[in-house]
Amino acid sequence: MNLKEDVEIQKKNKEKCEGISLYSSVIFEQTPYKLYYYIRGGIMIKTFKKFTFGHGAVLRNRLVLAPMTTYASNEDLTLSKEEEVYYKTRSKGMGMVITAATAINKNAQAFENQITARDERYLDSMKRLSNAIKSEGALSILQLHHGGRMNIPGLYTNQDIVCPSCVKANRDYAVEPRELKTSEVYDIIDAFVKSEKIAIKDGLERTSVG
Ligand SMILES: Cc1cc2nc3c(=O)[nH]c(=O)nc-3n(C[C@H](O)[C@H](O)[C@H](O)COP(=O)(O)O)c2cc1C
Repeated sequence: MNLKEDVEIQKKNKEKCEGISLYSSVIFEQTPYKLYYYIRGGIMIKTFKKFTFGHGAVLRNRLVLAPMTTYASNEDLTLSKEEEVYYKTRSKGMGMVITAATAINKNAQAFENQITARDERYLDSMKRLSNAIKSEGALSILQLHHGGRMNIPGLYTNQDIVCPSCVKANRDYAVEPRELKTSEVYDIIDAFVKSEKIAIKDGLERTSVG
């Protein structure tokens, strides 16, 4: 390849990249309906079509916000004002929003300032979370989570690092987890169900397990 050809390829790649960043800035600034008419091309048009899941939930389009931990809850692990604004802002124009990993009980807490739905004290926190997402028209999915053996020792006081078997995680900071008794495994399943009930009672439409 000579220098001239190389420069042409670089130029074309640059145009392509600019095209992509233009798409993403348009996505966050325009409503999907306007975009539907703006953007030509099969894939992009399908992206903005309605989608109905087998169980009946409907997405107004196929844009989904992936779950992303924010490390930003209040000290009491309720949703902070900043997180509320974060969800409201990012729900604009999305079909579905999956929340950050949300701890199902005390031992489940894996990240600093991680929100939880562990009991009724967090009903209001979950309500604010669902309102932030649903008020912008997106389907709200709460990601329920247990950190297990991946938890950072000492991050939360009086936390037990537990796992179905006592096999250490492949992380520098990891410690050998305490093996759960069968009854404790059932307790964790119950905690997932309890958190799900709290979430749905408070308006979150579905849950996922992370
Ligand atoms: C800052 C950050 C936080 C994340 N938190 C979560 C989380 O709470 N739960 C989860 O399942 N995935 C989490 N992920 C993974 C993302 O949801 C996603 O799967 C990952 O970024 C790969 O997506 P991509 O291929 O589109 O980049 C996180 C990713 C990032 C960058």
